[in-house]
Amino acid sequence: MTNPSTTAPPERAPAPDTAALVVRAKEPVAEGVVSLTLARPDGGRLPDWTPGSHIDLVLPGGSTRQYSLCGDRWDPYTYRIAVLREPHGRGGSAEVHDRLAVGDPVGVGGPRNNFPQAPAPGFLFIAGGIGITPLLPMIRQAELLGTEWTLLYGGRTRASMAFAADLAEAHGDRVHLAPEDEYGLLDLDSWLSRPLPDHKVYCCGPAPLLTAVARACAHWPPHSLRTERFTATATATALAAPAHLAPFEVELRRTGRTVTVTPGASVLQALRGAGVDLLSSCEQGTCGTCLTTVLDGIPDHRDSVLADHQRAANDCMLPCVSRSRGDRLVLDL
Ligand code: FES
Repeated sequence: MTNPSTTAPPERAPAPDTAALVVRAKEPVAEGVVSLTLARPDGGRLPDWTPGSHIDLVLPGGSTRQYSLCGDRWDPYTYRIAVLREPHGRGGSAEVHDRLAVGDPVGVGGPRNNFPQAPAPGFLFIAGGIGITPLLPMIRQAELLGTEWTLLYGGRTRASMAFAADLAEAHGDRVHLAPEDEYGLLDLDSWLSRPLPDHKVYCCGPAPLLTAVARACAHWPPHSLRTERFTATATATALAAPAHLAPFEVELRRTGRTVTVTPGASVLQALRGAGVDLLSSCEQGTCGTCLTTVLDGIPDHRDSVLADHQRAANDCMLPCVSRSRGDRLVLDL
C-alpha cells in the first residue's frame, strides 16, 4: 500500500527553476549520516516551507536527489537536510559524503510537500533510520502548538540514528528509541494494537517498516495513517505488469496535440520525444514533480506519491511512471 491515508493532494512543483545555493555547513550527525546547511550566496531569504517538505538537490556532478527538510522552518535564511550514505545507491549520497564541501554551489528545486502534517489532537510519529528527517519539523510544530505527541524511533544501532540523542535529551519520555541491536525490530503490535482516539500516525522509513505499520494500522479509523516513501514501491513499478500492453494515445487538450506512447517508453519520455516540455525530477514516481491533471481516460497508477483515494479519483497522474488503462488519455497540457 502506498500513502494509505493521505488527506491533501500532492503539491505541484511551484516553478521550473532551480535556485543556486551554497553549502554553508557540513557535519556528521550519526554514523553514515551528514547534515548540510544550505543558503543563498547573498544571504537572502529562501522560500517558506511546511513540515514534511522536501527539496530537489542538484549536485555539482549533475545528479538530482530529493531530501526532506529537517531544520527550523521559521529560519528563513537556511535549509537543513541530512543525507545517509547509501552504499548501493546511484552515487548521489556518495558525492555528498565524499566530495561536496563547505562553500560548494548546489542547485535546489522546491520546496514541495507531499507529506503535509494535518491538524490533529495528537500524533504518533514512527521513524525508521533516516526517515526521522521529515518528522523533526513535525515534532517542532506539535511542540509549538502544545499538541500531544510520541515518537517511536528505530534504527540499526544507536550510533546510526541521527538526532536520536538530542531528541531524547530535549523531550524525555515522549521519545522511545529502539536500536535494533539492543531491542530487535520495533514492537509495532504493542504500539498500534489499540487505536488512539483522534491521533494521526506519521511514519517514514524503509519500505518494510511502512508495510508493517500499514498492516498494524489496518483497524484504525480511515485517514489515521500517513506515510512517506523515499524509494518507489516494488508493487507499483517493476513488479506490476502494465494494465494495458498495447500502445496508447495521449491527447494534450490545451495544445491540441496527440502523442503515441509505445510499450517501451514512459508517458514522460513520449512527451519529451514529441518536444513537449514537462518538469520532472526523480523520474521514479516518488517526488511528485511531474504531477499532471487528467481530463479523460483512466490512468494506470504506478507511482509512490498518490493516496488510494487520489488514485481512485483518476483526475491526476505522475507521467514519469504511470500509464493508461485504455487506448487514450486526455491530459491538461
Ligand atoms: Fe518525480 Fe515524476 S518526476 S514523480
